[in-house]
Amino acid sequence: VEAPAVAEARLFAPEDEAHCRRTIEEWWRMPLEDLVSRADRVCRTVYGDGVYLRGLLEFSNYCRMDCLYCGIRRSNRNVHRYRLDEEVILQVVRTAFARGFRTFVLQSGEDPAWPAGRLARLVERIKEQTRGEAAVTLSCGLMTREEYRLLREAGADRYLMRFETADPDLHLRLRGVALERRIEGLVYLRELGYEVGSGFMVGLPGETDETMVENLLLCRRLDLDMVGIGPFIPHPETPLADAPQIPLDRTIRAVAILRLLLPGANLPGTTAAGSLEPDGRERMLASGGNVLMPNITPVQHKKDYLLYPGKICLDEDGFHCVGCLTMRVATVGKRIDWEKGTSRQYLW
Ligand code: SAM
Ligand code: SF4
Ligand code: FES
Repeated sequence: VEAPAVAEARLFAPEDEAHCRRTIEEWWRMPLEDLVSRADRVCRTVYGDGVYLRGLLEFSNYCRMDCLYCGIRRSNRNVHRYRLDEEVILQVVRTAFARGFRTFVLQSGEDPAWPAGRLARLVERIKEQTRGEAAVTLSCGLMTREEYRLLREAGADRYLMRFETADPDLHLRLRGVALERRIEGLVYLRELGYEVGSGFMVGLPGETDETMVENLLLCRRLDLDMVGIGPFIPHPETPLADAPQIPLDRTIRAVAILRLLLPGANLPGTTAAGSLEPDGRERMLASGGNVLMPNITPVQHKKDYLLYPGKICLDEDGFHCVGCLTMRVATVGKRIDWEKGTSRQYLW
């Protein structure tokens, strides 16, 4: 299914890593406007003017991890903890499916009350309930290969797990776990046949331009099907409360480079970008992005999944957001596409 123009967009052979690094470095220095218009052209060649929708369901904010950047980290005692049960999740999915959603992203902290077996049964029920017509994406953090296998066999199609930063020292400092473990998890997911999504935060304290080049190169090396990136936004109840806020342009530059590096990848305009600037998501969609993830979590829980301050859409339900997003995508000459939206990078 590779269109000729797309073949052209593949600028180098994957094995030529030194060349790849030099090219990223050049793009990193290029005037932003030129880079963005080039990425937009490639995106429209691959995905046209379509923007895929994913229904994001934040089903538990319990987490055994203590990532320094995250508002729902274990040590934050001010968080009101919640977890949705199966029946509530299935009801939300049923309603959203009836309204046209064909992809669901189930996201949570690393919650011991949701072991892989329980999650697998839930995935099976979602697949049954949607007659296999909806794709299920999980984003529940690091598990063992066996657990990922169980979930894949239950019908999970996709898995999202950002590596957060490709700098091993920074990664260890911020997460208390080696970067290698996260990468190993992503390799398992790939071997098991998932559509694999990862990505990173932009503007973490301690990150340099070299880190960004390494972040981008790692996305390419992992040949990711989806890449979620967003600005790091310091949360006042975390150890990184006093870190500076880096402007959104750095994220825009990164998403544009990702479109050139991985022409067929699904790249969302992320909530964090929309939280930092009112038109942040649209700016990402005009710079190579082709996905939006309206939050369909029941409204009473949205405010408790506060990864960073200023998170948008906390008082609106996901269906209100769909109307809002329909107008927003039109401002950048795009339209909502209700298809399942399998990554071209995965299909090629
Ligand atoms: N627990 C799973 C994990 O860590 O992979 C999934 C949920 S986690 C809350 C989802 C993402 O939120 C992380 O991958 C991280 O990039 C992002 N995130 C956490 N804290 C953030 C912050 N302060 N600013 C921006 N993004 C943040
Ligand atoms: Fe837990 Fe994910 Fe937050 Fe880390 S980023 S504390 S793993 S929810
Ligand atoms: Fe949620 Fe605009 S997208 S209110």
